[in-house]
Amino acid sequence: MKPEIAPSILSADFGHLREQVGLVEAAGATIIHVDVMDGHFVPPLSMGPQVCEALRDLGLHLEVHLMVERPETTQVEAFAQAGANTIIVHAEATPAVDYTLNLIREHGCSAGLAVNPATPLSIFEEVSPDLALCMTVNPGWGGQRFIADSIEKITRLRAIVGPDVVIEVDGGVDTKTAGLCVAAGANRLVAGSAIFGQKDPAGAFHDILNAASRGN
Ligand code: DX5
Ligand code: ZN
Repeated sequence: MKPEIAPSILSADFGHLREQVGLVEAAGATIIHVDVMDGHFVPPLSMGPQVCEALRDLGLHLEVHLMVERPETTQVEAFAQAGANTIIVHAEATPAVDYTLNLIREHGCSAGLAVNPATPLSIFEEVSPDLALCMTVNPGWGGQRFIADSIEKITRLRAIVGPDVVIEVDGGVDTKTAGLCVAAGANRLVAGSAIFGQKDPAGAFHDILNAASRGN
């Protein structure tokens, strides 16, 4: 699988959200990463399904990262109805991981499972999501420093899930860390501040994609 870059709109200018997304789309992005925070699982509040509604007609793949407690109770259905294509939940956020992954698929979406930096990978020996997300920062904020120990964790994750599952990394991805992640086995990289925090988001997208491809 060729590496893909999923720009996170968490660092975008929300006053010009569709224009910002248009910039990375013109640069070749096909996936947009939507970071949803509930003020409980992580301290900040971020965005709700209305943001997916506002972007869905652009025809991009909307990947929703639910950093929320008990996502199965309300958020999965709401985001699926708002146009999400992939929904990612955290292993730490629900005791009903297998149920929640099935629920996501029943709503016609790809099912992703995320683990925080301190969470062991053993859950991936028990359940088979379509996408495995290895957090490379503690979730909650954009612009944090990449946790270097994650590289070895990505290697172990690839050995567990095999070649066909998408391995995504999220947090601190830039032109320096992208190639390392891909070399370790990741094939989808989220980047927020390294794209939308830059003057030229399209150029930044290209640079990270090139750096990721060199790690291949
Ligand atoms: C962190 C979010 C990330 C974040 C990444 O809690 O899940 O998706 O937007 O931001 P950067 O790329 O700036 O680390
Ligand atoms: Zn995210």
